[in-house]
Amino acid sequence: MPEPSALFSPIELRGVVARNRVVLSPMCQYSAKDGHAGDWHLAHHARFALGGIGVALVEATAVEARGRITHGCTGIWSDAHVPGFRAIAELYKRHGVVPGIQIAHAGRKASGQRPWEGGGPLGAADGARGDAPWAAVAPSAEAMAEGWDTPHALSVAEIREVVGAWAAAARRARAAGFQVLEIHGAHGYLIHSFLSPLSNRRNDGYGGELAHRMRLALEVTEAVRSEWPRDLPLFYRASAVDLIDGGLTIEDTVELARALKARGVDVIDCSSGGVVGPTVTSAGRVRPKQGFQVPYAERVRRDAGLKTMCVGMVLDADYAEAILRQGRADLVALGRELLYNPNWALHAQQELGLDPEFHNWPVQYTWALSRRAKVLAMPIDGDGRA
Ligand SMILES: Cc1cc2nc3c(=O)[nH]c(=O)nc-3n(C[C@H](O)[C@H](O)[C@H](O)COP(=O)(O)O)c2cc1C
Repeated sequence: MPEPSALFSPIELRGVVARNRVVLSPMCQYSAKDGHAGDWHLAHHARFALGGIGVALVEATAVEARGRITHGCTGIWSDAHVPGFRAIAELYKRHGVVPGIQIAHAGRKASGQRPWEGGGPLGAADGARGDAPWAAVAPSAEAMAEGWDTPHALSVAEIREVVGAWAAAARRARAAGFQVLEIHGAHGYLIHSFLSPLSNRRNDGYGGELAHRMRLALEVTEAVRSEWPRDLPLFYRASAVDLIDGGLTIEDTVELARALKARGVDVIDCSSGGVVGPTVTSAGRVRPKQGFQVPYAERVRRDAGLKTMCVGMVLDADYAEAILRQGRADLVALGRELLYNPNWALHAQQELGLDPEFHNWPVQYTWALSRRAKVLAMPIDGDGRA
């Protein structure tokens, strides 16, 4: 008998039990129309619904129309968006996966092109083909990079309205049947741009010292928590460090995590970077090493005393297993590895020796794959046929 696996042991999060700790990281598909999840989204999520993961997080979904990154981003700013998401949440539940959604506001990174259209700011040429630019909002009137429009600095009254939009989005996420809600507080989007001294130049109660820069994150969390049922878990994705001089540090994030915990956040999803520049996943010249952001999850877990999820270049089953065994995180999120191989979690169970008979695969596949395994184990006859 193999030792019990940490990665494939259940986890209890308030009133929800996930069958294992492999999580689909939220990934924008840039394929929505007016914010609606459609056929593509259902087909895309079906790939993971059959793939043995424990929890799935639907992509960054905007709480306001102007809070989308691109025209193709999903949104949940109206009740009309709910049915598209309900279909995804129900699909996951039918296949034993806990469905979740990340809600988001792009802030000054709004009004962009889809990555495959360049990923830059929308301009007149985009407008001519129906993707008109729109005005972005931010803590301060400072563009995120050269070439991008200067955003409108939100007034205090406007901040209150934005907080209300987060609460309404949480209510709709519940109506759609999601069981995990993640607040997107990372990657340079609205909440992170308030947190980071690199993008927040305010000198009112929302800027200056860390306690003031944290205020939007905490107000959003309180508003979301008040709408999100007590028996359902709330995640928060943080850019744990800015990785730029003068930016957010891991000590800042530990302090933030403690305050979030006091307001009902259950899991900090530890990413990094993104406060300056258009994308967070663009490849640099050096390949990040496997699990390069795990130290942030480990530190927040230890010093803030709450559950964490690690993400970023987690490639191998035995590596993911070791992260959890060593108590460095409680959940492991995968993005591109799952795009590449939606069966990653099923294959991982094979590699870890946990499912030799394919019982954790959909029953429709089990018999055929166990026969395949027997055939592959037979000696090969002379002309290559088994
Ligand atoms: C296509 C794509 C879309 C992404 N969209 C989101 C998103 O909606 N929200 C988010 O927080 N991160 C997003 N990310 C970042 C991923 O969730 C993840 O943190 C990152 O890809 C690192 O994990 P990986 O190395 O396993 O891919 C996206 C990444 C990719 C590749």
